[in-house]
Amino acid sequence: MRRKLVVGNWKMNGSLATIAELDAIAAAAGRAPGIDVAVAMPATLIAPAVARMPGFAIGAQDVHQDKSGAHTGCVSADMVREAGAAFTIVGHSERRTDQHETDADVKAKAETARGAGLSVILCVGETLTQRDAGEAERVVTDQLAASLPAGAAADWLAIAYEPIWAIGTGRVPGEADAAAMHGAIRAALCGLLGEAGAAVRILYGGSVTGENAGLLLHIEDVDGALVGGASLTAAKFVPIVEAAQR
Ligand code: PGA
Repeated sequence: MRRKLVVGNWKMNGSLATIAELDAIAAAAGRAPGIDVAVAMPATLIAPAVARMPGFAIGAQDVHQDKSGAHTGCVSADMVREAGAAFTIVGHSERRTDQHETDADVKAKAETARGAGLSVILCVGETLTQRDAGEAERVVTDQLAASLPAGAAADWLAIAYEPIWAIGTGRVPGEADAAAMHGAIRAALCGLLGEAGAAVRILYGGSVTGENAGLLLHIEDVDGALVGGASLTAAKFVPIVEAAQR
């Protein structure tokens, strides 16, 4: 039995003033004891968010694959852990695209994060061109196989399936397409990890809203959501938390 997990991703948004949104988000999480709720913050807001909301799961959006060193402008897994992060996202498509991160980079980041005591949400997803060419499942399962960290296990790792064409666009896959992809990811996880693959949570991400969450979150093998735009305010995020709890 996999508990649903709803994770906000603030991306490069927010400020000290807007972390007050977490008050109502954490309160909603408290009213939803059957699920897990967390928010990935910009690095500078992790410590103030943890100070404001002790006990609520705050995470990072990325960490460097090296433990430390000459990497100007980067942030390490130990640094975000020290700031109070409980987890980090790795392999978000915006980083794979903008920072040219490879599957090997993403795998190394996940392993370094785990070594620092962080849980990990590993993102995979196809472009619209790949989907239109009928390659979506192959692309995503190849990405998964190449970026899955050593020792992958459900107690510290979740996968987020995020079709790139659905991120920030208002488009979401149809129920059948989402079910087929999540099923393919589940089969790939079980192929790679054996029985342990059945326990790893597979989140859906890309234009999740309070309106569509109820449908998306009840598709088989959709074990939660990774939410960008609609996580920035409690008014938009809380209905998603409530839909996951139902
Ligand atoms: P979105 O972003 O909800 O704004 O589409 C999702 C994500 O990129 O994690």
